[in-house]
Amino acid sequence: MRKNIVAGNWKMNMDYEQGISLFSEIVNMVKDEVIGNQEIVVCSPFIHLAAISKLSAHTNNVSIGAQTINQHESGAYTGEISASQVKSTGAEYVILGHSERRAYFGETDELLAEKVDAALKHGLKPIFCIGETQSEREAGSYFDVIKNQLSKALFHLDAAAFGNIVLAYEPVWAIGTGLTASPEQAQEVHAFIRQTLADQYGQEVADNTSILYGGSANPSNAQSLFSQPDIDGGLIGGASLKSRDFLQIINVFN
Ligand code: G3P
Repeated sequence: MRKNIVAGNWKMNMDYEQGISLFSEIVNMVKDEVIGNQEIVVCSPFIHLAAISKLSAHTNNVSIGAQTINQHESGAYTGEISASQVKSTGAEYVILGHSERRAYFGETDELLAEKVDAALKHGLKPIFCIGETQSEREAGSYFDVIKNQLSKALFHLDAAAFGNIVLAYEPVWAIGTGLTASPEQAQEVHAFIRQTLADQYGQEVADNTSILYGGSANPSNAQSLFSQPDIDGGLIGGASLKSRDFLQIINVFN
């Protein structure tokens, strides 16, 4: 179901105490200052999941997510975490397809399709990332790149299963660079993504899918981005590590 979502991606930051402390700040601020019906998701490293899940129980609009899962049910995969293990912590979401996982850990669209299936099987909602590199942007091939990522990793799903997917457009050239896509650039791609969904699944599914923007979103640009007709919120990296900045972004929807 389409809703406004502001998700924080903590990436590989903060030890256990620091993460609990930041999450407690966020929960307290949300309780006091957030009046809209937007959903807030905090995607932490695995070490925080169970504890912040318990803390989130005191709120009605803060959910927890992981940043990846292994595609297998269980077994001899040293160091990995399965969908059922993540679900057992109380997490509801999992980021999949992030460009850093694709680039540094060789995650292909085919592998990601298996991870999406594992997540859905265990009741986790994927926040599925798509986006082009600088060279693909400059070559003008970004629509083809994004359509290919969607079809290879997601279009094996039927319409009902796809209803559990949240999408995040994250132009790789905007991640961590301070080079945010302009609202027009982002809206152009979000509209293309929504049309691609309509072509594949029909207009109802397309209209009911939340499509988030990620890539150097911050309190000074969130309003102009989120006011675009096909942008339903953000997947926030650096700015989610500062409670006040993260809350200012959340409050764009108030
Ligand atoms: O997943 C969100 C992340 O990739 C964006 O990072 O620091 O550019 O907001 P950042």
